[in-house]
Parts: sequence; C-alpha cells; structure tokens
Amino acid sequence: MSAVLAHLSDPHLPLEIVPSRREWAIKRIISMISWRFNRRHIHRTRALAAVMRDIDACGADALAITGDLTNLGTREECIAATRWLDRLPTPRAVIPGNHDTMIRASWADGPGLWRDVGGMPDEETPVFLRVGDAALIGVSSAVPSPPFFASGRVSDIQIDRMAELLRRTGEQGLCRVVMIHHPPRKGLVLWSKALRGLDRFTEAVRSAGAEMVLHGHSHQGTFSTIPDSEIPVIGVTSASHRPGHSLKRAAGWNRISIHKEDRDWQITVESRRLAPDGQLHDFRTTRFTRPALRAEADIRPTKESVL
Ligand SMILES: [Fe+2]
Ligand SMILES: [Fe+2]
Repeated sequence: MSAVLAHLSDPHLPLEIVPSRREWAIKRIISMISWRFNRRHIHRTRALAAVMRDIDACGADALAITGDLTNLGTREECIAATRWLDRLPTPRAVIPGNHDTMIRASWADGPGLWRDVGGMPDEETPVFLRVGDAALIGVSSAVPSPPFFASGRVSDIQIDRMAELLRRTGEQGLCRVVMIHHPPRKGLVLWSKALRGLDRFTEAVRSAGAEMVLHGHSHQGTFSTIPDSEIPVIGVTSASHRPGHSLKRAAGWNRISIHKEDRDWQITVESRRLAPDGQLHDFRTTRFTRPALRAEADIRPTKESVL
C-alpha cells in the first residue's frame, strides 16, 4: 500500500480581528506592527487559495500542516483557523507554530481548538495519523518567546511519547514521518528563531528511527538531514507567500509519494510553487530511498534463532 502526503506550512491566515485589550502584550504589538507594514503584503489569501486548489487537483491521501496558521495566536485567530481547517480535505495532521502560541496563554483557547480538525489531542501528546503504509507523528515546538525571538522547544514528555510512537510504528513496518514546526538542524534559520534542545530531539529521532522529518518556520523549501544520520529533513515555503520574480520563496507545497519496493521505501517529493501567472508549477522533484523495517509480525523465527 502506498501513501501520498500533501505537506504545507505557515499559511499565516489573514488577520481580520484586532485583539481585545486584555489580549495585548508587547510581543503582539511588535508582531502587529510587522504585520501591518510588511507581512500582510507578503502573505496573500489568493496565493493560499491557489495552493489549496492545486492540492485538490493533484490529489493526496492526507494533509500534513506544520504550523503558523495564525499571526498573533489570539483566540479569535485560532477559531478562524479551526474554520479554515474544517473546510480542507481530510484526513489531516496539524501542529502549531511559534505564531500560534505567541504569548503565555491557555492551550484550550489556542491550538487546543484544533483537536477535532486534525490537531494534537493535548499540549503534550503528539498528533498521530496513519495513512496507508505511512504514520504521521507531529510534535509541538511552539512555545512563547521574548520579543524579537521566535525560538522553539519540544518538551521532554513529548519527545518520550514521540520516541515510543516511532518505535511502535517501526515494529509495524510503517514509513514514519515526523512533523515539527522548527527545523531540527542548525543553520536553516537565525539563532534567535532556532529550536532549543536540538540535540535531545535529534538523538530521540535517530535512536527510535524515522524515515523523514517535515518542518515549516523557515519559509524555505530546503532539504537536509538530521545530524549524524541519513534521515531527510524537508522544509517547505509558506503556503500563502505571494509569487515574485523568483520561485524560491513563492507559495508552495510538497507532494510526497511513498511506496514500498522490495525492502526499501521509494520516496518522491514534488515541490510545487506559485508563479506570477497564478498557477502552480513543478519547481523541483527529489527522490530518495530509505530502508524499510520489516514488521515484527512478518519476521518468522529462522532455524538459527530457534536453535
Ligand atoms: Fe511562519
Ligand atoms: Fe514560525
């Protein structure tokens, strides 16, 4: 059985409702200024609509959405994001980004609202979605940070739960896809925006095993690896970035096809990007092979192991 995933990230849905007075904080004021004068001209509803139409036209078995659905992470924005998610095709796995938890606030009034539309069951439990032969396992690296910072961290509890899910799905012989908002690799974003506790996270992924990691946050479609491993780390541009003279940052998504051939996973990543003509085009196709684990149920005792 194969699986096709649509990986998209950082839609930064339009900011339509100004936060109430009790929701104001220095961090939100700074971010609001940035939105007013800069970011609202970059993140465009039409670009996002074109991406969603393209996903519909190309087809996918599931959506993997790696965070930053909002701009200031207010309750109203998170409710609007719930409505947006609810209109998208199912099934979906959704994790939050740093914008979705901009200030210290109740999880239930933030990304907790997405629980029934593909989000995490709670703040400390990774989202889990089985899609054919693939298992999507998404953790939250979204934590509040001081003004001018956008760093992230995955809690120890989540890392332990993620590792357990990775081990269990590995035993079932599934293709394990980890989702995290912040790139788990140094150098892909500025230090002020980076994942704290990177070593603990990457060590858990390496030792439990995974076939690939998907991330957002950088707004760039990069390919790298988990340090000291061959586990691919795949980024994607913001799903709402306006098209420009270069396709490098333009809105896009990755169509990830996974199928098993003999003892390997054959994985194809088609990166689609929005051009000024309003259409999405193939930007780059990347293929890689990952060794497939055999399901424990398929492993029959050999003569040697019986002896
Ligand atoms: Fe973002
Ligand atoms: Fe982000």
